Amino acid sequence: MSADYVVEMKGICKRFGGIEALRNVDLELRRGEIMGIVGDNGAGKSTLMKILSGAYLADAGEIFIDGQKVHIRGPLDARRLGISMIYQDLALFNNLDVAQNIFAGRELVRDRFGVFIDKKRMYNRAAELIRDLRVDIKSPKMSVARMSGGQRQMVACARAIAFQCKVLIMDEPTAALGVTEANKLLGLIRNLKDMGLSILLITQRIPDVLAIADRVFVLKGGQRQDVMEVSKVTLDDVVTMIVKGKGGNGTAAPEVQYKSFG
Ligand SMILES: Nc1ncnc2c1ncn2[C@@H]1O[C@H](COP(=O)(O)OP(=O)(O)OP(=O)(O)O)[C@@H](O)[C@H]1O
Ligand SMILES: [Mg+2]
Repeated sequence: MSADYVVEMKGICKRFGGIEALRNVDLELRRGEIMGIVGDNGAGKSTLMKILSGAYLADAGEIFIDGQKVHIRGPLDARRLGISMIYQDLALFNNLDVAQNIFAGRELVRDRFGVFIDKKRMYNRAAELIRDLRVDIKSPKMSVARMSGGQRQMVACARAIAFQCKVLIMDEPTAALGVTEANKLLGLIRNLKDMGLSILLITQRIPDVLAIADRVFVLKGGQRQDVMEVSKVTLDDVVTMIVKGKGGNGTAAPEVQYKSFG
């Protein structure tokens, strides 16, 4: 296996009862790249990424991280390997503030005459993360309850990178955002790449992929169609691949659905 790739998935298969969600899928993610994962509803995008993040177990296939074969049996295994996923239905605790969300379940502690949660260190570290990410969150003490969708995604990113994450998976992060917020989040994803992360970005918004990704991976009906260099394709090329697939003989389709995001 090539160590040029931070992630390599080989021959991944997954069934849910009668549904073949993934059929023999290979994926290679280069170190430090942003790869868009695209495809119609039900194409298998979330399932493939959930297998990498340990949320689902594959029925067959192998995963290599930095060229080493690994066994991801649950989210903890993935996290130990430096893989974090921010889910489509983003989970934050509304009753907690920014810092508490970043460290929820993984509180920093100090150990002097017993174990105490080290609040000061958590708030300092949270402030540092917000600053490094250059996001517009004023204070780590802000409650997330009244935050916008974009700010919530940013907190989720800070949470992911607070703990040695090298591969970040995002599932439709801009889906619920307005244009300005979506653009800010795309800027943040670029910053994360500059910080050295490798990023897998599931999205239905092809223009987003063209704006920030290095390559785009197309799934259709649970099968890999193509992986294209973004610099060498147009919106139409990507849409055609999503709709018609590699053979070019899929059913003619609602292109409008994609183009309307432009
Ligand atoms: N937990 C599950 N149980 C049963 N079927 C599932 C489950 N998760 C996914 N599927 C099925 O597997 C297929 C792939 O689903 P998946 O969620 O991966 O698609 P997707 O590409 O992420 O779609 P979307 O763009 O709508 O999010 C679909 O047919 C879906 O109904
Ligand atoms: Mg999905």
